Amino acid sequence: MGDFAAQPVIVDCDPGHDDALALLLAAGDPRLRLLGVTTVAGNQTLDKTTRNALKILALAGATGIPVAAGSARPLIGELTVASDIHGASGLDGPDLDVPVGEVADVHAVDLMRRLIVEATEPVTLIATGPLTNVALLLRGHPEVVPRVRRVVFMGGSTERGNTTPYGEFNIVTDPEAADIVLRSGLPTTMIGLNVTHQALATSPVIAEFEGMGTRLGTICAELMTFFAATYRRVFGFAHPPVHDPIAVAAVIDPAVIRTVAVPVTVELAGAHTRGATVVDLHHRTGQPPNAAVAVSLDVDAFWRLLMTAVRRVAG
Ligand code: RIB
Ligand code: CA
Repeated sequence: MGDFAAQPVIVDCDPGHDDALALLLAAGDPRLRLLGVTTVAGNQTLDKTTRNALKILALAGATGIPVAAGSARPLIGELTVASDIHGASGLDGPDLDVPVGEVADVHAVDLMRRLIVEATEPVTLIATGPLTNVALLLRGHPEVVPRVRRVVFMGGSTERGNTTPYGEFNIVTDPEAADIVLRSGLPTTMIGLNVTHQALATSPVIAEFEGMGTRLGTICAELMTFFAATYRRVFGFAHPPVHDPIAVAAVIDPAVIRTVAVPVTVELAGAHTRGATVVDLHHRTGQPPNAAVAVSLDVDAFWRLLMTAVRRVAG
């Protein structure tokens, strides 16, 4: 894989079946140096997403990575979890009985700030849940902004939504947070449903996890089997899309996605469209671009990255 300096990253997540794969990819690919993991309420309540992050890192043997819990609710409004998709625990399916490390006794935003300040080079923030923690960091600690290389987030869509007709879950959960991130002036990459719906955990994918012959591989197979059942029941999908690890893959190998530099606005006031990402693909608004929006995915390259990383951490 040649000589390279691993890129420092922080993953902010709400595990969540697909967040779990994102964490395994971030912990398992040597091109990233996972400085820390922060958790946010989203797919499940904060206590559950935090416990789930600890479990996944423990299963990956990455117990030395600091984990801090962040926001238990969006900036405005109330939290609505996604039990129908991720189950009561947030990671329903497999038996995840594993000794876990301690949660850091600081807020996620404070851990992010410390890790960024202490890093020897600018840090990439990868967000795979609602953007509440990232927004609080950018607004509460503007001094760290110059030391953030970029923000890469899974969220939004150039097309339709999944939580409301035009709203994707991470953005709908906290539209104001997404608005703050997109107005921050930081280099920002948006990985929306329009590409994540191409990364489907098909039966051959599940069989490949199972065929690894490791506990972690079997757990990934069981996670995807549960995820497949809920996505089939709720959305009528034949196979579940693994949204979040694409945000990590795009940092590891930017060639995995193709992006366009366009203006993205978050609808905050629409009675029926609050939380929609309004992506001006044809520059009709005259607004300057504020995000690199993913418009295509190299699906095979993505799965190769993910499977290699899972095999690597599975030992
Ligand atoms: O809409 C999909 C996104 O919402 C994913 O990040 C999933 O984990 C949930 O957080
Ligand atoms: Ca997520």
